[in-house]
Amino acid sequence: MSTASIQQTTTPAESAAGPGAPRRLDLVGKLPSGPRPVVAGLPRTVSDDLGVPTVHHTVIDYANFDHGATTPALVAVAEAAQQVQRRYGSVHRGAGYASRVTTGWFEAARAQVGQFVGARDGDQVVFTRNTTDALRLLAHCLPRRTRVIAWESAHHAALLPWPARTTTRLPVPDSADDAVALLREALQDSPARHQLVVLTGACNVTGEVWPIAELVAVAKEFGARTVLDAAQYAPHRELDLEELGVDWVAFSGHKLYAPYGAGVLAGRSDWLDAAGPYLPAGGATAAVTPRHTHWQTGPARHEGGTPNAVGAIAIAAACATLRAHRATIEAHEEQLHGRLRAGLAAIDGVRVIEALGNRPNVGVVTFTVEGYEPSLVSQVLADEQAIAVRDGRFCAHLLSDAIVGHGQTAIRASIGLATTSEHVDRLIAAVRRLVEDGPQLSYVHTDAGWSAPADPRDLSEPLPW
Ligand SMILES: Cc1ncc(COP(=O)(O)O)c(C=O)c1O
Repeated sequence: MSTASIQQTTTPAESAAGPGAPRRLDLVGKLPSGPRPVVAGLPRTVSDDLGVPTVHHTVIDYANFDHGATTPALVAVAEAAQQVQRRYGSVHRGAGYASRVTTGWFEAARAQVGQFVGARDGDQVVFTRNTTDALRLLAHCLPRRTRVIAWESAHHAALLPWPARTTTRLPVPDSADDAVALLREALQDSPARHQLVVLTGACNVTGEVWPIAELVAVAKEFGARTVLDAAQYAPHRELDLEELGVDWVAFSGHKLYAPYGAGVLAGRSDWLDAAGPYLPAGGATAAVTPRHTHWQTGPARHEGGTPNAVGAIAIAAACATLRAHRATIEAHEEQLHGRLRAGLAAIDGVRVIEALGNRPNVGVVTFTVEGYEPSLVSQVLADEQAIAVRDGRFCAHLLSDAIVGHGQTAIRASIGLATTSEHVDRLIAAVRRLVEDGPQLSYVHTDAGWSAPADPRDLSEPLPW
């Protein structure tokens, strides 16, 4: 582990505050020892030299176990976005050089994302804000009286956008076979003309990969369509609409090593072209007369207003990079996940949470520590060991109630490209130490959460502009 005294990062202004005053630190400071060593074949993220302060007066390598929430940008993505920032112009709206270049990049981004998802002939790639927005867009496009089937285990973004009257919720399954059986049973007694099954690629609470092929096969048997929530799946596994046989897929750029603000809905055109525009506005219109408005078909129909071109291009850069490194990424993450899961499970008082059991996993270990509130565990890990995890119910309250406990929370460690084997060992050791010796500082709980009165850090940061 790389360490440095925090006095090294104290600025003259803060020194003037006098001895004993909390020290403000450059939180986006670089690791004194420089970037981590490159792991052969793995793409780098911009956070690979991120050092953050701990309560022990050290600045250490940031151990990121929160990829399930948001990922740091890949270096290749940041470079692409910076290139676009320097020269962008309006998209589909200008004859100027910058406009033409940006429009070309934006449409090339669409084609790149199409390749990433294995789009079939006639499929569309629509740029949205995120997965939530992509699934909401599909909900907007459902033909009248479409029956929707979703498991209660879905993330709220995939559980809530559908019309309540025509949506059937299936209980949380306790195995992959149970999920398949529940779907078959639900479809068997369904008279609806249009049906949509909402599938989860990988569970955001447990990281378990769902039996997508088996579920799609059952849906097809009964003539139902499928949409795959791939928010957690796309960063870790190859997506192929053609091979998986799903009709639509939705995912977010900010979980795919691209910045916030852009997402994707990709898949069949027919329902999308038959629905009214998602955002009735410029760009979505073909012609407007005093009496009629004619809307575009294709992606433009649902991309009203000026699009987030930088976000779309950044997603495309992420897709290209991940595609080129899939096998190495999967092998690396699988190895880290196995080590983390085994290490945590071996600690007395640690309970590892699963729903389906015995499934491939995209790199998540969710757990509780006997005798400690999950929110305190997260704070201790962050403050004392520069380890970032997430605690809570993970926007999947029904699933969390079923597998963690009613109203209970848990701690989620999610692995990604900014996680190293040293981080894994540090997290296991930190949890073990907590169980054996308790926190190293004493913590109090207020409305703002847990904090240690003896924490010497001033975490206020100068504004970045
Ligand atoms: C499985 C899953 N679906 C959907 C979402 C929603 O993603 P976003 O917040 O980017 O819209 C998340 C976010 O955590 C998720 O994990």
